[in-house]
Amino acid sequence: MAYETLIVEIEDHICLIKLNRPDALNALNTKLLAELCDALESADKNDKVRCVVITGSEKAFAAGADIKEMSSKSYVEVFMEDLFADASNRLMGIRKPIIAAVSGYALGGGCELAMACDFIIAGDNAKFGQPEINLGVIAGMGGSQRLTRYVGKSKAMDMNLTGRFMDAEEAERAGLVSRIVPAKKLMDEAMGAAAKIAEKSTISTLAAKEAVNRSYETTLTEGLKYERRLFHALFATDDQKEGMGAFLEKREAQFRDR
Ligand code: CAA
Repeated sequence: MAYETLIVEIEDHICLIKLNRPDALNALNTKLLAELCDALESADKNDKVRCVVITGSEKAFAAGADIKEMSSKSYVEVFMEDLFADASNRLMGIRKPIIAAVSGYALGGGCELAMACDFIIAGDNAKFGQPEINLGVIAGMGGSQRLTRYVGKSKAMDMNLTGRFMDAEEAERAGLVSRIVPAKKLMDEAMGAAAKIAEKSTISTLAAKEAVNRSYETTLTEGLKYERRLFHALFATDDQKEGMGAFLEKREAQFRDR
């Protein structure tokens, strides 16, 4: 399907989604969020896709929610439409792994979108921030919640209260990003990571994502039990027999998602 605000390519089991509103630094307007959710849900349903990569341009992953579109809205309007609820919920419903490849600005909703992905690979030019406080509002898509879980209270408060940006080095030190690479190599690295994921059994990558995400929602005892049950369940798959058999036979496993 052709999109107005995205470029979507599917190749070698990887769905690459490029945010494409260059004139607005990929600001997340209603159209872009709807198209992004649609593209992600299509990838989730597509048997050929095993991993998704979301990226922006060299200058901006995304500079936040679209301020022009929001500025004149009233409280009643944003409350009644439950602004960002649909996109947030639909993003959380995606079961396949999603990598955010971040170059340049990831601010406000852009930082929140990156954090809603499963992990972030950053170019050394990346800048993260929750500058909504400068606009007389606060984060509205996870910047006070997910950022706190990623980097802890002190840095999350600092970012949300001062609106300052965090560079890639600080973001890696703080645990917000999993790796930093030279900006020019960002897409090679992100696609390489996606290719690694795409080699695995999709049944186990889905289970791994579900297990890690469970740690946000539950106690350690319950989380460990949940993980163990998923681990046990994977013994019902052909891919477990193939993976362990291939190890013992000293060959590459050929997973078939069965
Ligand atoms: N919404 C709408 N348009 C935006 C935008 C945004 N979030 N960010 C940038 N743009 C537009 C600019 O208005 C400008 O358009 P025009 O050429 O038509 O004027 C174009 O993108 C280029 O931007 P700049 O000229 O500002 O570029 P710059 O290099 O000087 O600065 C920047 C880059 C520091 C990222 C700056 O654009 C900026 O501060 N953007 C806003 C960041 C922000 O406040 N984000 C939070 C939004 S609110 C939110 O996200 C709520 C939530 O939690 C969901």
